[in-house]
Amino acid sequence: MTTGIDKQDIRALYEWYASIGADLDVAREPTNWFELAERQKGEARAPVQARSPARATEPRPSGRPEMSAPAPGLHAAGQSRTPQRSGDRPALLRSSEAVMAAREAAGAAQSLDVLHERLAAFEGCGLKATAKSLCFYRGAPQARLMVIGEAPGRDEDIQGKPFVGRAGRLLDKMLAAINLSENDVHITNIVYWRPPGNRNPTPEEAEVCRPFLARQIELVAPDVLFILGRPAANQLLETTQGIMKLRGKWRSFDASGRSIRAMASLHPAYLLRTPAAKRMAWRDLLAVRSAIDEAPTD
Ligand code: URA
Repeated sequence: MTTGIDKQDIRALYEWYASIGADLDVAREPTNWFELAERQKGEARAPVQARSPARATEPRPSGRPEMSAPAPGLHAAGQSRTPQRSGDRPALLRSSEAVMAAREAAGAAQSLDVLHERLAAFEGCGLKATAKSLCFYRGAPQARLMVIGEAPGRDEDIQGKPFVGRAGRLLDKMLAAINLSENDVHITNIVYWRPPGNRNPTPEEAEVCRPFLARQIELVAPDVLFILGRPAANQLLETTQGIMKLRGKWRSFDASGRSIRAMASLHPAYLLRTPAAKRMAWRDLLAVRSAIDEAPTD
């Protein structure tokens, strides 16, 4: 068949897609994601949007390429989904229903294993459709320090564990510098599946995962939360402030009545790109180390 496009053009097109992070083919029909994003802005629900971080002028901690519209294949939790690549999956729930379903599934989980099973069976987060793996946690099931990042990336999706790529290796070195190994910490993210093309997770996706994360925090029962990067800090601390304002200050996170000390800091992916910022991260790490040492042991 003559289409007017030769193999070289097709290869160039695929290379271009790969270079912008579009590494998944999920639909046969094209969708105008920019138009969809505009429509969603109009339909946005106020409480969720209030948490939406304004990202344009802030350092992008995760190093994820900026995308102003959902990547091809994204079905934000607020949309209904036409089954495409994974035609046997049930259609996505609406965002509010998905959050309720997540609360119900997560709330009653009495152990991390059960929480993991519930998460694996959960169909309310659109990220699951395009990710290969569920990335639950890495490290110890119970730990005095819980590290919470933004979202799994490519390496994490392949290995099914958070923070195993370049940023994760730097994170491990940072923790080692305050005498903590993988066995001393519990490492996770605000969303459990890799966003397509490594874009930031949307506030809706983070909201849907939040009941699982909240229960995970209760079950791990850490003394300190170390929150990496703006999206995670905004989601967990319920603020829209930039990371430079948030970092280095103690906040508290309410885990069903138990108050946990929480420190936001710079994301290791940002530190990889901005080595001069490591001085600030080091100060935050020292504060975290002192807080762990000061916390009463039971
Ligand atoms: N960046 C994150 O925020 N989390 C990961 O798991 C990996 C990279």
